[in-house]
Amino acid sequence: MLHAVIMAGGSGTRFWPQSRQVMPKQLLKLAGDQTMIQDTAGRAGWIGPERTWVVTNAVQADETRKQLGDVPPSNVLVEPCARNTAPCVGYAAAELLHADPDAVMLVMPADHVIGPPEVFQKAVEQAAAIVESDPEQLVLFGVKPNYPSVGFGYIERGEELADSEKAYKVESFREKPDLDTAQQYLDSGKFYWNCGIFVWKASRILEALKEYEPDMHERLMRVSEKIGKDDFQSTLETEYPEMNSTSIDYAVLERAKSVSVLEAPFEWDDVGSWEALTRLLGEDEAKNTIDGQFVGLETTGCTVRDTTGGHLIGTIGIEDCIIVHTPDATLVAKKGDENAIKRLISEIRDRG
Ligand code: GDD
Ligand code: MG
Repeated sequence: MLHAVIMAGGSGTRFWPQSRQVMPKQLLKLAGDQTMIQDTAGRAGWIGPERTWVVTNAVQADETRKQLGDVPPSNVLVEPCARNTAPCVGYAAAELLHADPDAVMLVMPADHVIGPPEVFQKAVEQAAAIVESDPEQLVLFGVKPNYPSVGFGYIERGEELADSEKAYKVESFREKPDLDTAQQYLDSGKFYWNCGIFVWKASRILEALKEYEPDMHERLMRVSEKIGKDDFQSTLETEYPEMNSTSIDYAVLERAKSVSVLEAPFEWDDVGSWEALTRLLGEDEAKNTIDGQFVGLETTGCTVRDTTGGHLIGTIGIEDCIIVHTPDATLVAKKGDENAIKRLISEIRDRG
């Protein structure tokens, strides 16, 4: 049976100050009426709440359960600490196997914008059919790159699969290459960006972890043995922090055989930082992206947001800036360096 697994333990620091540790971006309404995690669960709605799982951390668990009211609270798996996506996927796979030995997982990040839902569903069903016919397959979704991003994984397309449309063997996978390599990939026309959405059997991904991350796998097995027992939590708390902190992309996808890619027929965007808001909300004639009360004179290329609902923002003579006003913090930044917010946050933490 198909299960949906939402990875939702990232900190989303690049959306400061709207996103905080307890309220990261997947729990916020960044674009639209629903929060990103509600959108993500809704997109996989046909799978049903009983077979929807979330992997998150202790700080975010309560709010996650509240926002996903239909999902059984025990399907929200709580990591004792963040160890990146390889342990997250492994932990979910162990829980799923316990519930359903034949489980197929649709693994989704909680912070993507995708549509339309029926096209997404059809693509996932196609991926699941590939896995049903060959349980060894690890299926990825690829979108055509339009700039040499260094923030994505790249999938080299190989031969077309026999019985599936726009599905290919993966010749190679490279997670987050440097700029020169990304440019070569883009120029070659043979690469997709990895959407970060995966379809595979829970048993198969655990086998892959056993092969490539044997220590992590052993620890996952120790955790798995305790599911439903009194000492589950203490075992999880002992084993989890010891697991190698690595992403599923580096740990498995760069190394594994039997990887295939489906060309994504859906619209896809990774809402990675404030600059993505322009793609979501569009711009006015002065090329500003505005969400809130705003009056700007000689202001162009700016992203302006007020989350309080009652604060007027006025600007004069500025360009290419991000201004975000929240009840207790305001950001004013020059666009262009998406990672600078991370530096700002560590500086704020250092100063207490
Ligand atoms: N539970 C949990 N625990 N979730 C996590 C953790 C963790 O330790 N770390 C990250 N996540 C969640 C994030 O919240 C996000 O929803 C998802 O896992 C992916 O993590 P990112 O940190 O956003 O990954 P990325 O964007 O750098 O790279 C991945 O996605 C790209 C597409 O958006 C890779 O798969 C790339 O290859 C891919 O191109
Ligand atoms: Mg991401």
